[in-house]
Amino acid sequence: MRYALSLIAFLLTIAPLSAGGGMWLPLLLENLNEEEMQSMGMEISAEDIYSINAGSLKDAIVHFGGFCTGEVISNRGLVLTNHHCGFGAIQDHSTLEHNYLEDGFWAMNTQEELPNPGLFVTFIERIDDVTDRITAGITDTTDERERARIIQVNTAALKATYELPAHTEVLIKPFYEGNQYYAFVTKTYPDVRLVGAPPSSIGKFGADTDNWEWPRHTGDFSLFRIYAAPDGSPADYSETNVPLVPKRHLEVSTAGVKPGDFSMIFGFPGTTDLYLPATAMVQRTEVINPIRIGMRDRSLAVIDSAMRADPQVRIDYASKQARIANAWKKWRGESQGVAAVGAIEQRRALEREFRQRLEAKPTARAEYQALLPELERLYADRLPAEIVRAYVGEINYNVDLFRMANLLEARMRIADNNGAEAFRQRVPALLEDLRAFYRGYHPDIDRRVARSLFEAYVAAVSPDDQSPFVRDQLAFAGTPGKLIDELFAGSYLTRGDRLIELLQRDPEEFVEYVRADRAFQFARQLNRHNERHVIDYYNAYAERINGLQRAYMDGLLRFFPDRRFYPDANSTLRVSYGKYEGFTGLEGETFTHQTYLDGVMDKYVPGDYEFDVPEKLRTLYREKDYGPYATEDGRMPVCVLGSNHTTGGNSGSPALNGKGQLVGLNFDRTWQSTMSDVHYDPAICRNIMVDIRYVLFLIDKFGGAPHLVAEMTVVD
Ligand code: ARG
Ligand code: ASP
Repeated sequence: MRYALSLIAFLLTIAPLSAGGGMWLPLLLENLNEEEMQSMGMEISAEDIYSINAGSLKDAIVHFGGFCTGEVISNRGLVLTNHHCGFGAIQDHSTLEHNYLEDGFWAMNTQEELPNPGLFVTFIERIDDVTDRITAGITDTTDERERARIIQVNTAALKATYELPAHTEVLIKPFYEGNQYYAFVTKTYPDVRLVGAPPSSIGKFGADTDNWEWPRHTGDFSLFRIYAAPDGSPADYSETNVPLVPKRHLEVSTAGVKPGDFSMIFGFPGTTDLYLPATAMVQRTEVINPIRIGMRDRSLAVIDSAMRADPQVRIDYASKQARIANAWKKWRGESQGVAAVGAIEQRRALEREFRQRLEAKPTARAEYQALLPELERLYADRLPAEIVRAYVGEINYNVDLFRMANLLEARMRIADNNGAEAFRQRVPALLEDLRAFYRGYHPDIDRRVARSLFEAYVAAVSPDDQSPFVRDQLAFAGTPGKLIDELFAGSYLTRGDRLIELLQRDPEEFVEYVRADRAFQFARQLNRHNERHVIDYYNAYAERINGLQRAYMDGLLRFFPDRRFYPDANSTLRVSYGKYEGFTGLEGETFTHQTYLDGVMDKYVPGDYEFDVPEKLRTLYREKDYGPYATEDGRMPVCVLGSNHTTGGNSGSPALNGKGQLVGLNFDRTWQSTMSDVHYDPAICRNIMVDIRYVLFLIDKFGGAPHLVAEMTVVD
């Protein structure tokens, strides 16, 4: 009897989240989630979150620069996002004299707000289910090629039916592996100015050591403002632009949260792979992640030592290093998490259940029976190509010279395909790319990164999988290291000033020079060969795999009507929800849901590049000068934890309470939680947010910019 009761209690507690996590489409909340959300403590309705008829919370959410999320928090277009999302902009405005990375930046009035060419924010105006229109004409016998063609034609036809004023667009995206399609009507504002940022010692406190970890003490936020034409429409930067009066801005609550309170994250998660078969999960976490991690161990060893030795390099490489180190550490957490919770075994169990349920459906059996074995075979056959692709991909990602060569190759293809005039027209944009790229480029550091990575490539990739050109060059040079040294010594691509000058003077000669450059040719051959012998091969498999993954997803939706499935993330607007709560770690250690400024002081190491604390913050702490932002017992909250399913791209997403008010700012996940890109485990997967009270305190008391808090709608 006792057993039965506790079993029921157990089922009741896990049932609501039994599917585990979820990144839900805002327009489906009413049908799929509203009831559960309200039972967990949400006081608003699905219509308050997303409505096409009336203003709703979604009107305050922006896709920030296409890679992060931000939210509008005042009726003058003030946008809150992460420090690491605004990082590139902050870095671009930083010099050794005005080092905003190191000292922070606070605009005291709109005149002081700094424009950021290339940065934009995008609102979602409307979401439509367009599955029927996009898949019209596809039948059970349509093959993959034909299917892709039909979808392309239908997409173009559907797009043509939307009326799209300047700066608006319609994006049509597949969901559930291509079983459903949704259209997103977007509006993009290209004038976004930097308003405020704490120093990196706060915005990036703990840096790589604390990244992807809890307990966390990072004030990871920055402020921007959206500018529009005087009539409120999107407009390119102009002095006559004015702060946007948004349709909606979020209320900010200083009431804080308690463990168990309802929590919601609204944002633009980038990519997840939650429906991979077990075989593919093994490949990812046991083969591919370790290769990529190993390559980045090498590049980071070079970059980190160069940064430690030179303050100018510290500025120039700040963003690059953070980008490389972030995924490097994430992959380690993901592989560990998957192993630790037995995610692969759980996936196998799901596959067994899939087969069992299929047994009970004799009519469907023929259609789905071969699916999983076939998927397994295809993934296995593709693995060798995937391995080479991982090595080459890491070279292209970590070595700037190769990044540049690839960019130029793509731009110059325009000259080949569309003629010199088409290329000439794109010269101003290319000049901008080159200037951005070469600002802070250090060929010698880059050369050392290249040496180390290329040595690893040569050691691991069999000569058969290397390009003949690369093999010949290698034979001539003698060693991989010598070859890289020669390439760098003889390349124009290391000389940004010369390239820019040449492109300005004579675009045609520029193209000839670049084509003749040995390093450019080398990068091209490395990729060309890789394309023909690896990528084409890889893509041919991917095409068949996609078709089968789609059928598998369709099977899951059909045979598991008792479960709710959410579509993989694809950089579209989603809602995740859970609770504000701590967790019990895999070794039984317990973690509470909140950290405080005391914890910052515990971690403080004077002068350390990761754990230094600015003097002003130490003084505020000593004097407990927290203004109205402290907790009831007089402490300053810093970060907070929740069980929302998030991924890359969710950074900067608002963390809301049951009333839909802003209580925090999402920026990270805990160590093994990063596995939630392939497997969500409700027991240990947690997202990390900055407590909004810390943000307000930093703006007001630390930054001395109370006028910015005064523009917000603060409630308690
Ligand atoms: N891990 C977080 C995310 O994926 C924060 C990254 C920024 N911090 C860093 N040290 N790179 O974006
Ligand atoms: N830090 C990530 C981001 O930038 C969020 C995450 O992966 O949890 O989007």
